[in-house]
Amino acid sequence: MDVREMHTEVVLVSPEAPSEEAIAPAAAALKAGHLVAFPTETVYGLGANALDGAAVAQIFAAKGRPADNPLIVHVADRSALGQVVREIPPKAIALMDGFWPGPLTLVLPRQEAIPTEVSAGLATVGVRMPSHPIALALIRAAGVPIAAPSANRSGRPSPTSAEHVLEDMVGRIPWVLDGGETGVGLESTVLDLTVDPPVLLRPGGVTVEQLQQVIGEVQIDPGVNGVVHTSRPRSPGMKYTHYAPKAPVILVEGPVLRMQAKIVDLTAEYQVEGKRVGILCATESMGRYGAPVVLDYGGRHQLDMVAANLFRALRAFDRHRVDVVLAEAVPETGIGLAVMNRLRRAAGGKVVSV
Ligand code: TXA
Ligand code: MG
Repeated sequence: MDVREMHTEVVLVSPEAPSEEAIAPAAAALKAGHLVAFPTETVYGLGANALDGAAVAQIFAAKGRPADNPLIVHVADRSALGQVVREIPPKAIALMDGFWPGPLTLVLPRQEAIPTEVSAGLATVGVRMPSHPIALALIRAAGVPIAAPSANRSGRPSPTSAEHVLEDMVGRIPWVLDGGETGVGLESTVLDLTVDPPVLLRPGGVTVEQLQQVIGEVQIDPGVNGVVHTSRPRSPGMKYTHYAPKAPVILVEGPVLRMQAKIVDLTAEYQVEGKRVGILCATESMGRYGAPVVLDYGGRHQLDMVAANLFRALRAFDRHRVDVVLAEAVPETGIGLAVMNRLRRAAGGKVVSV
């Protein structure tokens, strides 16, 4: 069967008070082995019954996802953790107390009931309890833990609205629960707790500073800050170029005035070559640039806003049909670490430091 020819049912659901009637058909389909896209507080997820290997395998086909990139399992109650993980160290409990429900994924030893499709053959599994009412209602109504990656085609920016999910997935999946825009806008923080001190594998909605306040030392995997040179990174997802619009992205890093001057120069160079230039920058910089498409991601120091806007802005460049995107860096504090991680990955190593 051509996966593009499936009917995609879109169900509008209230994000504050999801009704049982709205959720029930999708929850039943999910339990029966079908895929359901749903909002979380970070980005939209593409869910399957985490206890059903054949259901989970469909996620990889629908996304075009490499089989060696494991999925996060979502639970609505801690009592469900026994099905998912084999042991929960004290630091994991402290982090659950501090940040669940919320954008923190804990990598722990995998329970045998979790099929290898979920963990891509690893002995560990990532698990989190999302805080979005629709996500919680769906997990409870389905009565099973839900394995879910972000609901984009592999390599594309993660979806922060149901429209983004449909851009990538219409005709490939049977159900989308439309609960409007997501809040955080970037994916969850992924922390490996099978080692001590724990290792940050992906920066996200919960900041390193917040983690340190609860568990003390946190090591940062080298793949977080730059390009991964090894063929075997700790978090398999880190080795793939990701979050990219169709045009190449060039990330410019450095002090604000020099960054702006470099982007002005690069714009002129690309325009001489006949290229249509797009610029992604802070609101404060918009007046500096004369490119045909200048989009802002919010104020340079309002990093929560930048996080919330980033993926929508990256997707918007596709509609504007630009040939190249020049992006301004943001400070790497707080959620800025996660923003810069996504921008570097979108640039796929094309980073200019001034
Ligand atoms: O916010 C989120 O985490 C969203 C929503 C839907 O919950 N999900 C999400 O999933 O971003 P995905 O599949 O796009 O990213 C999961 C990341 C990947 O980088 C993957 O390699 C890593 O988590 N990961 C998952 N399980 C892992 C494991 N057992 N060990 C190491 N890394 C793991
Ligand atoms: Mg993803």
